[in-house]
Amino acid sequence: MTALPNAGDVETLPLSLDLLSEFALIDDVYDELFQLYSESDQAGWQHNHAVKQKAGSVEIEVENVKGNKSAVFTVMQNQSLLSKRGITGSVLWDSSVMLSNMFTKHRELFELDPSATRILELGSGCGLLGITLASLVKQVLMTDQYEMLSLLAKNIRRNLGENTNTDIAELMWGESLPPDFRKRTFDLIVASDCVYHESLTGKLVKTLLDICKLSDAHKLSEFEETGVKSKRTAFILGQELRSDTVHLEFLTDLIESFIVYRIPTKFVMDDFQNGYCIYFGFLR
Ligand SMILES: C[S@@+](CC[C@H](N)C(=O)[O-])C[C@H]1O[C@@H](n2cnc3c(N)ncnc32)[C@H](O)[C@@H]1O
Repeated sequence: MTALPNAGDVETLPLSLDLLSEFALIDDVYDELFQLYSESDQAGWQHNHAVKQKAGSVEIEVENVKGNKSAVFTVMQNQSLLSKRGITGSVLWDSSVMLSNMFTKHRELFELDPSATRILELGSGCGLLGITLASLVKQVLMTDQYEMLSLLAKNIRRNLGENTNTDIAELMWGESLPPDFRKRTFDLIVASDCVYHESLTGKLVKTLLDICKLSDAHKLSEFEETGVKSKRTAFILGQELRSDTVHLEFLTDLIESFIVYRIPTKFVMDDFQNGYCIYFGFLR
């Protein structure tokens, strides 16, 4: 019997080989940084163009949420929380709009299944991405620092009502996983705009690694019990290009443990073609 998950077993790849062959494999981080920061049009970067961070609440339209119909989500923000050290998620960030629209437009390509897919979101902030994904998959667990959770809960209630297929939990990157996380299996881990400070990149990668290892280990025991193969746990992380040094540190850590691809811009809305990037990966 083949051990699972196994990097050589194509049946357990989290995306089809056809689609992966369209993604750019990151094997040289310096080359990746050169392409992103030196070859792109930095003068044209327009950070935060899709969100109004000073408003008490913002209405964000996400395309194709229900079939080909868009949905307008109302996201409440809290500017005053931003003055607390380490709090950045009490306002919305561009990458959550970018990723939300990428997933709704390409749900089949990313194999999102309303009856099966389980997603974990790290650093959910105001919650737009998790709220969007809740319409496309079976279960979404949204996580952040404790201080963010009440605003997150408010936004979930406001947009999805009381009974939802979402949960929220405190999850601090770099710390050992809370006991109830150790029992859970995820298909996809997502994070929007969570790579921005050098003190956080190593912690974020550690948490990704801890969760993917545990989730894949659960899948392995399920396989041993049932003989049914599952896909390896994957991540999709989208971010604005800000600091090349933080980005370099993050990618260097990331590719040590993960096979990482950059998703081509053809999957991304026109508004986010320049100054953003999205990575897809799974354990080596
Ligand atoms: C720039 S905000 C992005 C928020 C949201 N994902 C978005 O795109 O609008 C970064 C998020 O990471 C969370 N974060 C920062 N450091 C963290 C840590 N050590 N552990 C867990 N979450 C953290 C922040 O609370 C915040 O919600």
